[in-house]
Amino acid sequence: MRSHLFAVMCLALGMPAVTSAADPRPEAAPAPSAAAKPAAVEVVGHRGESHDAPENTLASYNLAWSRHDPACELDVHLTKDGKLIVSHDPDTKRTAGTKVVIKDATVDELKKLDVGSWKDPKFAGERLPTLDEALATIPPGGRFFLEVKIGPEAVPELAKCIERSGRKPEQLPIISFNLESCRAAKAALPKHPVYFLASFKQDKATKKWAPTADELIAKAKDAKLDGLDVEAAKSPVVDAAFVKAVRAAGMGLYTWTIDDPARAKELAALGVDGITTNRAAWLREQLGAEK
Ligand code: G3P
Ligand code: CA
Repeated sequence: MRSHLFAVMCLALGMPAVTSAADPRPEAAPAPSAAAKPAAVEVVGHRGESHDAPENTLASYNLAWSRHDPACELDVHLTKDGKLIVSHDPDTKRTAGTKVVIKDATVDELKKLDVGSWKDPKFAGERLPTLDEALATIPPGGRFFLEVKIGPEAVPELAKCIERSGRKPEQLPIISFNLESCRAAKAALPKHPVYFLASFKQDKATKKWAPTADELIAKAKDAKLDGLDVEAAKSPVVDAAFVKAVRAAGMGLYTWTIDDPARAKELAALGVDGITTNRAAWLREQLGAEK
């Protein structure tokens, strides 16, 4: 089912089902190595190519697209003036060195901050992108997983940004840990795939992991979602039984944040739809090398 879904999606987007020499990316992007075999699973750049560039910046996304990553992921918050700005954290302390709370600041105020230098001086001057700016970087056929970091109040502006972007629904899946944000996104944007994000905790006494696949599937079904996007690097929860349960429910399954090629190979073999990683181009090479 995974291969089928991915092939259908690629057809809809006018892109090949694998990253190959025929990849329809901008002419400025380098051609993929002829020796590299394609990864059979969709590899998603977590906050862009965030291993090599400052997370959630235009530099990070443009690096990802130049490396032919098929998809990126980003996080959004609402500003004081009602715009969506891209940041993982609700404030700027970690990436700008100065704490400005996004919901209490305007886009103009946030745009004064340098969110590139913390990664490397060569990225000095990188700014927090607005969602509009981030979406404008997508090359033909590229996809952006849009993570709503707040509640359903983000959805009206999200819908406006998506409309302005002119991108196809398949290019812009929506993800959130907040089930109500997922529910509102699916209701407002029914053609967009929406996946419920989840991570897992192990009970010290019973050793059992929670939530279970069935619990997550029930929530996702209730909100009329397209599937799950779950933590699969630190926990062993995603296994053959988990994948089987999600597939039996007719749902899609994405995973995060996997930088270990051995775990990525395991997940690809299990048949997940996608793997989110901080090193998308590098991981695709690792996956391709084994095929
Ligand atoms: O892709 C999902 C993943 O990004 C969720 O975790 O904390 O990195 O936003 P986080
Ligand atoms: Ca995220």
